[in-house]
Amino acid sequence: MNGAEEGARAEFLADALAGLSGHPKTLPGKYLWDETGSDLFDRICAHPDYYPTKREMALLPGVASEVAPLVGSGVSVVEFGSGASRKIRTLLDALDAPAAYVALDISKAYLESAIERLAAHYPGVTMTPVTADYSKPVRLPPGVASPPILGFFPGTSIGNFTPDQAGGFLGRARETLGPSHFLVGADPTRDAARLRRAYGESGGLMAALHLNLFERLNRELGADFDRDNFRHEARLAEDPFRVEAHLVAIRPASYRLGDRTITVAAGESIRTDTSHKYPPDVFRTLAAAQGWEPVRQWIDEDSGFSLHLFRA
Ligand SMILES: C[S@@+](CC[C@H](N)C(=O)[O-])C[C@H]1O[C@@H](n2cnc3c(N)ncnc32)[C@H](O)[C@@H]1O
Repeated sequence: MNGAEEGARAEFLADALAGLSGHPKTLPGKYLWDETGSDLFDRICAHPDYYPTKREMALLPGVASEVAPLVGSGVSVVEFGSGASRKIRTLLDALDAPAAYVALDISKAYLESAIERLAAHYPGVTMTPVTADYSKPVRLPPGVASPPILGFFPGTSIGNFTPDQAGGFLGRARETLGPSHFLVGADPTRDAARLRRAYGESGGLMAALHLNLFERLNRELGADFDRDNFRHEARLAEDPFRVEAHLVAIRPASYRLGDRTITVAAGESIRTDTSHKYPPDVFRTLAAAQGWEPVRQWIDEDSGFSLHLFRA
Protein backbone atom coordinates (compact mmCIF):
# COMPACT_ATOMS: atom_id res chain seq x y z
CA MET A 1 0.00 0.00 0.00
CA ASN A 2 1.48 3.40 -0.95
CA GLY A 3 1.22 6.59 1.12
CA ALA A 4 -1.90 7.87 -0.65
CA GLU A 5 -3.68 4.51 -0.22
CA GLU A 6 -2.73 4.39 3.46
CA GLY A 7 -4.07 7.93 3.90
CA ALA A 8 -7.34 6.99 2.16
CA ARG A 9 -7.70 3.88 4.35
CA ALA A 10 -7.09 5.89 7.54
CA GLU A 11 -9.70 8.45 6.45
CA PHE A 12 -12.23 5.70 5.65
CA LEU A 13 -11.68 4.15 9.11
CA ALA A 14 -11.98 7.52 10.89
CA ASP A 15 -15.17 8.41 8.95
CA ALA A 16 -16.71 4.97 9.56
CA LEU A 17 -15.90 5.04 13.30
CA ALA A 18 -17.29 8.57 13.65
CA GLY A 19 -20.49 7.73 11.73
CA LEU A 20 -21.13 4.40 13.45
CA SER A 21 -20.51 5.86 16.93
CA GLY A 22 -23.10 8.60 16.37
CA HIS A 23 -26.84 8.65 17.12
CA PRO A 24 -28.37 7.99 14.65
CA LYS A 25 -25.69 5.87 13.01
CA THR A 26 -24.51 6.99 9.56
CA LEU A 27 -21.92 6.10 6.92
CA PRO A 28 -20.88 8.73 4.33
CA GLY A 29 -22.44 8.01 0.92
CA LYS A 30 -19.14 8.60 -0.88
CA TYR A 31 -17.98 5.17 0.33
CA LEU A 32 -20.68 3.46 -1.77
CA TRP A 33 -18.40 3.96 -4.74
CA ASP A 34 -15.89 1.18 -5.20
CA GLU A 35 -15.78 -0.84 -8.44
CA THR A 36 -18.70 -3.04 -7.34
CA GLY A 37 -20.77 0.00 -6.29
CA SER A 38 -20.13 1.77 -9.60
CA ASP A 39 -21.03 -1.35 -11.56
CA LEU A 40 -24.27 -1.80 -9.56
CA PHE A 41 -25.20 1.84 -10.19
CA ASP A 42 -24.72 1.35 -13.93
CA ARG A 43 -27.22 -1.53 -13.75
CA ILE A 44 -29.61 0.60 -11.64
CA CYS A 45 -29.58 3.25 -14.39
CA ALA A 46 -30.85 0.63 -16.86
CA HIS A 47 -33.65 -0.58 -14.53
CA PRO A 48 -37.19 0.61 -15.39
CA ASP A 49 -37.84 1.75 -11.76
CA TYR A 50 -34.94 4.21 -11.75
CA TYR A 51 -36.56 7.17 -13.54
CA PRO A 52 -33.87 9.93 -13.14
CA THR A 53 -31.45 8.54 -15.75
CA LYS A 54 -34.19 7.89 -18.29
CA ARG A 55 -35.78 11.32 -17.82
CA GLU A 56 -32.44 13.12 -18.05
CA MET A 57 -31.39 11.12 -21.12
CA ALA A 58 -34.68 12.15 -22.78
CA LEU A 59 -33.88 15.81 -22.07
CA LEU A 60 -30.19 15.80 -22.86
CA PRO A 61 -30.04 15.75 -26.72
CA GLY A 62 -32.13 18.94 -27.00
CA VAL A 63 -30.17 20.55 -24.17
CA ALA A 64 -26.82 19.63 -25.74
CA SER A 65 -27.77 21.17 -29.08
CA GLU A 66 -28.74 24.44 -27.35
CA VAL A 67 -25.69 24.48 -25.07
CA ALA A 68 -23.20 23.95 -27.93
CA PRO A 69 -23.49 27.44 -29.54
CA LEU A 70 -23.61 29.10 -26.10
CA VAL A 71 -20.26 27.65 -24.97
CA GLY A 72 -18.46 27.97 -28.33
CA SER A 73 -15.99 25.72 -30.09
CA GLY A 74 -12.89 23.97 -28.74
CA VAL A 75 -14.36 23.61 -25.25
CA SER A 76 -12.82 21.50 -22.45
CA VAL A 77 -15.51 19.59 -20.55
CA VAL A 78 -14.94 18.76 -16.88
CA GLU A 79 -17.41 16.23 -15.44
CA PHE A 80 -17.86 15.72 -11.69
CA GLY A 81 -18.77 12.14 -10.70
CA SER A 82 -18.46 10.80 -14.24
CA GLY A 83 -19.23 7.12 -13.39
CA ALA A 84 -19.68 5.12 -16.61
CA SER A 85 -19.25 8.32 -18.70
CA ARG A 86 -22.36 7.59 -20.77
CA LYS A 87 -24.15 10.95 -20.69
CA ILE A 88 -21.04 12.79 -21.80
CA ARG A 89 -21.32 11.16 -25.25
CA THR A 90 -24.46 13.18 -26.01
CA LEU A 91 -22.64 16.39 -25.08
CA LEU A 92 -19.41 15.55 -26.94
CA ASP A 93 -21.43 14.65 -30.04
CA ALA A 94 -23.23 18.01 -30.02
CA LEU A 95 -20.30 20.32 -29.12
CA ASP A 96 -18.23 21.96 -31.86
CA ALA A 97 -14.76 20.34 -31.91
CA PRO A 98 -14.44 19.71 -28.14
CA ALA A 99 -10.76 19.81 -27.18
CA ALA A 100 -10.64 17.89 -23.91
CA TYR A 101 -12.67 15.81 -21.48
CA VAL A 102 -11.63 15.63 -17.83
CA ALA A 103 -13.55 12.96 -15.91
CA LEU A 104 -13.39 13.32 -12.16
CA ASP A 105 -14.57 10.49 -9.90
CA ILE A 106 -13.78 8.87 -6.55
CA SER A 107 -14.07 5.31 -7.96
CA LYS A 108 -10.55 4.97 -9.43
CA ALA A 109 -10.52 1.59 -11.23
CA TYR A 110 -14.02 2.04 -12.69
CA LEU A 111 -13.16 5.58 -13.84
CA GLU A 112 -10.01 4.48 -15.61
CA SER A 113 -11.69 1.66 -17.53
CA ALA A 114 -14.66 3.92 -18.47
CA ILE A 115 -12.27 6.50 -19.95
CA GLU A 116 -10.27 3.87 -21.80
CA ARG A 117 -13.51 2.68 -23.47
CA LEU A 118 -14.67 6.23 -24.25
CA ALA A 119 -11.32 7.41 -25.67
CA ALA A 120 -11.54 4.88 -28.51
CA HIS A 121 -14.68 6.66 -29.79
CA TYR A 122 -13.30 10.23 -29.59
CA PRO A 123 -9.74 10.20 -30.96
CA GLY A 124 -9.73 14.01 -31.36
CA VAL A 125 -10.58 14.70 -27.71
CA THR A 126 -7.81 14.61 -25.08
CA MET A 127 -9.17 12.54 -22.19
CA THR A 128 -7.91 12.69 -18.61
CA PRO A 129 -9.32 10.64 -15.72
CA VAL A 130 -8.78 12.37 -12.37
CA THR A 131 -9.39 10.41 -9.16
CA ALA A 132 -10.63 12.96 -6.63
CA ASP A 133 -13.20 13.53 -3.89
CA TYR A 134 -15.40 16.47 -4.89
CA SER A 135 -16.67 16.91 -1.34
CA LYS A 136 -13.29 18.61 -0.82
CA PRO A 137 -11.48 21.32 -2.84
CA VAL A 138 -10.34 19.90 -6.20
CA ARG A 139 -7.50 21.30 -8.26
CA LEU A 140 -7.19 20.01 -11.84
CA PRO A 141 -3.76 18.80 -12.98
CA PRO A 142 -2.03 21.58 -14.98
CA GLY A 143 -2.82 21.72 -18.70
CA VAL A 144 -5.68 19.19 -18.79
CA ALA A 145 -8.38 21.81 -19.44
CA SER A 146 -8.08 25.27 -20.95
CA PRO A 147 -10.76 27.91 -21.64
CA PRO A 148 -13.46 27.81 -22.80
CA ILE A 149 -14.49 25.38 -20.04
CA LEU A 150 -17.84 23.65 -19.52
CA GLY A 151 -18.44 21.93 -16.17
CA PHE A 152 -20.93 19.04 -16.17
CA PHE A 153 -22.62 17.55 -13.09
CA PRO A 154 -25.52 15.42 -14.35
CA GLY A 155 -27.89 13.05 -12.57
CA THR A 156 -29.17 13.64 -9.07
CA SER A 157 -25.75 13.83 -7.40
CA ILE A 158 -26.21 17.45 -6.22
CA GLY A 159 -29.06 16.01 -4.12
CA ASN A 160 -26.59 13.96 -2.07
CA PHE A 161 -25.64 17.27 -0.47
CA THR A 162 -27.69 19.17 2.13
CA PRO A 163 -28.46 22.74 0.97
CA ASP A 164 -25.42 24.04 2.91
CA GLN A 165 -23.15 21.36 1.49
CA ALA A 166 -24.56 21.95 -2.04
CA GLY A 167 -23.65 25.64 -1.68
CA GLY A 168 -20.14 24.60 -0.59
CA PHE A 169 -19.80 22.27 -3.59
CA LEU A 170 -20.99 24.94 -6.05
CA GLY A 171 -18.51 27.45 -4.60
CA ARG A 172 -15.62 24.97 -4.83
CA ALA A 173 -16.65 24.01 -8.39
CA ARG A 174 -16.41 27.68 -9.32
CA GLU A 175 -12.85 27.77 -8.02
CA THR A 176 -11.96 24.50 -9.78
CA LEU A 177 -13.42 25.60 -13.12
CA GLY A 178 -12.61 29.34 -13.15
CA PRO A 179 -14.47 31.47 -15.74
CA SER A 180 -16.71 28.84 -17.31
CA HIS A 181 -20.19 27.50 -17.96
CA PHE A 182 -21.63 24.78 -15.71
CA LEU A 183 -24.43 22.36 -16.70
CA VAL A 184 -26.01 20.76 -13.62
CA GLY A 185 -28.94 18.36 -13.08
CA ALA A 186 -31.43 18.65 -10.22
CA ASP A 187 -34.43 16.45 -9.39
CA PRO A 188 -37.51 17.89 -7.63
CA THR A 189 -39.64 14.71 -7.68
CA ARG A 190 -42.06 14.33 -4.75
CA ASP A 191 -44.18 11.48 -6.08
CA ALA A 192 -43.86 9.05 -3.15
CA ALA A 193 -44.72 5.89 -5.14
CA ARG A 194 -42.23 6.75 -7.87
CA LEU A 195 -39.51 7.55 -5.32
CA ARG A 196 -40.13 4.32 -3.38
CA ARG A 197 -39.83 2.27 -6.57
CA ALA A 198 -36.64 4.05 -7.69
CA TYR A 199 -34.83 4.28 -4.36
CA GLY A 200 -36.32 1.30 -2.53
CA GLU A 201 -36.62 -1.32 -5.24
CA SER A 202 -34.98 -1.04 -8.67
CA GLY A 203 -34.98 -4.82 -8.78
CA GLY A 204 -33.07 -5.24 -5.50
CA LEU A 205 -30.08 -3.45 -7.03
CA MET A 206 -30.42 -0.47 -4.64
CA ALA A 207 -30.24 -2.85 -1.67
CA ALA A 208 -27.15 -4.50 -3.19
CA LEU A 209 -25.48 -1.09 -3.70
CA HIS A 210 -25.94 -0.08 -0.06
CA LEU A 211 -25.22 -3.51 1.48
CA ASN A 212 -21.94 -3.52 -0.46
CA LEU A 213 -20.73 -0.97 2.10
CA PHE A 214 -20.36 -3.84 4.59
CA GLU A 215 -18.18 -5.74 2.07
CA ARG A 216 -15.93 -2.68 1.86
CA LEU A 217 -15.74 -2.29 5.65
CA ASN A 218 -14.84 -5.97 6.02
CA ARG A 219 -12.36 -6.17 3.14
CA GLU A 220 -10.64 -2.80 3.47
CA LEU A 221 -10.83 -2.18 7.23
CA GLY A 222 -10.81 -5.76 8.59
CA ALA A 223 -14.31 -5.40 10.11
CA ASP A 224 -16.70 -8.36 10.56
CA PHE A 225 -20.17 -7.01 9.65
CA ASP A 226 -22.79 -9.56 8.62
CA ARG A 227 -24.68 -8.06 5.68
CA ASP A 228 -27.41 -10.71 6.05
CA ASN A 229 -28.37 -9.09 9.37
CA PHE A 230 -29.48 -5.90 7.58
CA ARG A 231 -32.24 -4.96 5.19
CA HIS A 232 -32.25 -1.88 2.98
CA GLU A 233 -35.07 0.65 3.27
CA ALA A 234 -35.79 3.97 1.48
CA ARG A 235 -37.46 6.56 3.76
CA LEU A 236 -39.00 9.87 2.72
CA ALA A 237 -38.35 12.82 5.05
CA GLU A 238 -39.36 16.49 5.15
CA ASP A 239 -37.69 19.86 5.75
CA PRO A 240 -35.95 19.76 3.42
CA PHE A 241 -37.70 17.06 1.38
CA ARG A 242 -35.39 14.10 0.77
CA VAL A 243 -35.10 10.34 0.32
CA GLU A 244 -32.83 8.60 2.81
CA ALA A 245 -31.24 5.17 2.40
CA HIS A 246 -31.12 3.11 5.60
CA LEU A 247 -29.68 -0.29 6.47
CA VAL A 248 -31.86 -1.63 9.27
CA ALA A 249 -30.56 -4.33 11.65
CA ILE A 250 -32.78 -7.42 11.87
CA ARG A 251 -31.24 -8.76 15.12
CA PRO A 252 -29.13 -7.14 17.85
CA ALA A 253 -25.42 -7.73 17.21
CA SER A 254 -21.90 -6.44 17.86
CA TYR A 255 -19.21 -6.00 15.21
CA ARG A 256 -15.50 -5.24 15.25
CA LEU A 257 -14.26 -2.09 13.51
CA GLY A 258 -10.66 -0.97 14.07
CA ASP A 259 -10.06 -1.22 17.83
CA ARG A 260 -13.72 -0.59 18.65
CA THR A 261 -16.92 -2.62 18.99
CA ILE A 262 -20.01 -1.33 17.17
CA THR A 263 -23.26 -2.52 18.74
CA VAL A 264 -26.58 -2.37 16.86
CA ALA A 265 -30.01 -2.96 18.40
CA ALA A 266 -32.75 -4.83 16.51
CA GLY A 267 -34.50 -2.28 14.27
CA GLU A 268 -31.68 0.27 14.59
CA SER A 269 -30.65 1.78 11.28
CA ILE A 270 -27.50 3.10 9.65
CA ARG A 271 -28.21 5.95 7.19
CA THR A 272 -26.01 5.42 4.16
CA ASP A 273 -27.09 8.16 1.74
CA THR A 274 -29.50 11.05 1.25
CA SER A 275 -31.06 12.39 -1.94
CA HIS A 276 -32.41 15.93 -1.51
CA LYS A 277 -35.03 16.85 -4.10
CA TYR A 278 -34.32 20.40 -5.22
CA PRO A 279 -37.06 22.33 -7.09
CA PRO A 280 -35.57 24.42 -9.96
CA ASP A 281 -36.07 27.82 -8.26
CA VAL A 282 -34.49 26.65 -4.98
CA PHE A 283 -31.54 25.21 -6.87
CA ARG A 284 -31.05 28.35 -8.99
CA THR A 285 -30.99 30.48 -5.82
CA LEU A 286 -28.38 28.18 -4.22
CA ALA A 287 -26.17 28.43 -7.32
CA ALA A 288 -26.59 32.20 -7.71
CA ALA A 289 -25.41 32.69 -4.10
CA GLN A 290 -22.12 31.04 -5.16
CA GLY A 291 -21.61 33.34 -8.16
CA TRP A 292 -23.23 31.12 -10.81
CA GLU A 293 -25.41 33.30 -13.02
CA PRO A 294 -28.37 31.36 -14.48
CA VAL A 295 -28.26 31.27 -18.30
CA ARG A 296 -31.00 28.78 -19.21
CA GLN A 297 -32.94 25.86 -17.73
CA TRP A 298 -34.72 22.86 -19.21
CA ILE A 299 -37.43 20.88 -17.41
CA ASP A 300 -38.64 17.37 -18.23
CA GLU A 301 -42.43 17.41 -18.47
CA ASP A 302 -42.89 13.91 -17.12
CA SER A 303 -40.82 14.13 -13.91
CA GLY A 304 -39.83 17.77 -13.49
CA PHE A 305 -36.14 16.74 -13.67
CA SER A 306 -34.23 19.90 -14.58
CA LEU A 307 -30.92 20.74 -16.24
CA HIS A 308 -29.49 24.21 -15.53
CA LEU A 309 -26.83 26.09 -17.45
CA PHE A 310 -24.92 28.65 -15.37
CA ARG A 311 -22.07 31.02 -16.16
CA ALA A 312 -19.34 32.28 -13.82
C1 LIG B 1 -25.10 8.47 -8.75
S1 LIG B 1 -23.62 8.23 -9.66
C2 LIG B 1 -23.88 9.25 -11.08
C3 LIG B 1 -23.03 8.85 -12.26
C4 LIG B 1 -23.25 9.71 -13.51
N1 LIG B 1 -22.77 11.07 -13.31
C5 LIG B 1 -24.69 9.75 -13.92
O1 LIG B 1 -25.28 10.82 -13.86
O2 LIG B 1 -25.23 8.69 -14.29
C6 LIG B 1 -22.50 9.17 -8.72
C7 LIG B 1 -21.09 9.18 -9.28
O3 LIG B 1 -20.32 10.13 -8.56
C8 LIG B 1 -19.17 9.52 -8.00
N2 LIG B 1 -18.99 10.12 -6.67
C9 LIG B 1 -19.79 10.02 -5.59
N3 LIG B 1 -19.32 10.76 -4.57
C10 LIG B 1 -18.17 11.34 -5.02
C11 LIG B 1 -17.22 12.22 -4.44
N4 LIG B 1 -17.36 12.65 -3.18
N5 LIG B 1 -16.17 12.63 -5.20
C12 LIG B 1 -16.04 12.20 -6.50
N6 LIG B 1 -16.89 11.35 -7.10
C13 LIG B 1 -17.96 10.93 -6.37
C14 LIG B 1 -19.49 8.04 -7.92
O4 LIG B 1 -18.33 7.24 -7.97
C15 LIG B 1 -20.39 7.85 -9.13
O5 LIG B 1 -19.65 7.56 -10.28
